[in-house]
Amino acid sequence: MRNSLSISSDQAKMFFPIPRELDPIRMPQHLAIIMDGNGRWALGRGLPRIMGHKAGVEALKTTLRLCSDWGIGALTVYAFSTENWSRPGEEVNFLMSLFENVLQRELKSLKLEQVRINFIGDLSPLPNRLKELIQEATDSTSRNQGINFNVCTNYGGRRELVSAAQKLAEKCVQGDLKPDEIDENLFASELFTAGNVDPDLIIRTSGERRISNFLLWQLAYAEIHITDTLWPDFDATALTKALIDYQSRRRRFGGLESNNAEHYEI
Ligand code: IPE
Ligand code: IPE
Ligand code: MG
Repeated sequence: MRNSLSISSDQAKMFFPIPRELDPIRMPQHLAIIMDGNGRWALGRGLPRIMGHKAGVEALKTTLRLCSDWGIGALTVYAFSTENWSRPGEEVNFLMSLFENVLQRELKSLKLEQVRINFIGDLSPLPNRLKELIQEATDSTSRNQGINFNVCTNYGGRRELVSAAQKLAEKCVQGDLKPDEIDENLFASELFTAGNVDPDLIIRTSGERRISNFLLWQLAYAEIHITDTLWPDFDATALTKALIDYQSRRRRFGGLESNNAEHYEI
């Protein structure tokens, strides 16, 4: 396997095999990533922070391609949080234009590669042109058969939970629902992620050890992998490490492992 894999347009149709260190049967069905460290990556090179965001797009393209080739069914990434509006206006504006440009430029290859793209979050305050592109990209890839690619944009876990609660409360007020009919499945069906399985693995780059308001409900039983790698440096090697770490975990979901249960006498 090569180091520092980056995918350029001339490699567009190359297929990346699953590294030998990984068990193809035990890949996560759904991978979530907090793509953090763009600013520090740029500052470390004496560049303005926005150059880190540009470089981060390349890491995202690589990661999406690898996930798709390695049989991961869904990739959900945190692109812009409800709290990120508090950054300087220049950086926010740059990010909005970057999302627009990247979406416009990459839509053709997303279609070709059968990616189904979806945007998760409160999209209403986004610039109109971006909203139009999001609509176009979502509609034109909705019948694709490949990886589900969810981009969390103006996303906040707390806001998502409040909005689900509001929708259920409204149904109760209308007399269409009784409070005691609300269960976990019904609640989950009102979240932006309705219809997706919960992430099996969450990766956070740049060494930060927090969730930062990401997928608060959905990460209930996700395995957590933190890496010091800054997002623009995230590559096939870093993804492989995260997946090896994931495959070494024993997921118990509050129960007992089957071999422990044998020795447990009531
Ligand atoms: C993550 O990188 C990208 C966004 C939040 C949009 P940061 O911009 O947070 O980079 P650092 O954490 O300041 O290095
Ligand atoms: C989380 O990163 C949001 C995204 C990656 C889009 P932040 O850099 O905004 O999170 P904090 O401020 O370090 O918690
Ligand atoms: Mg950050």
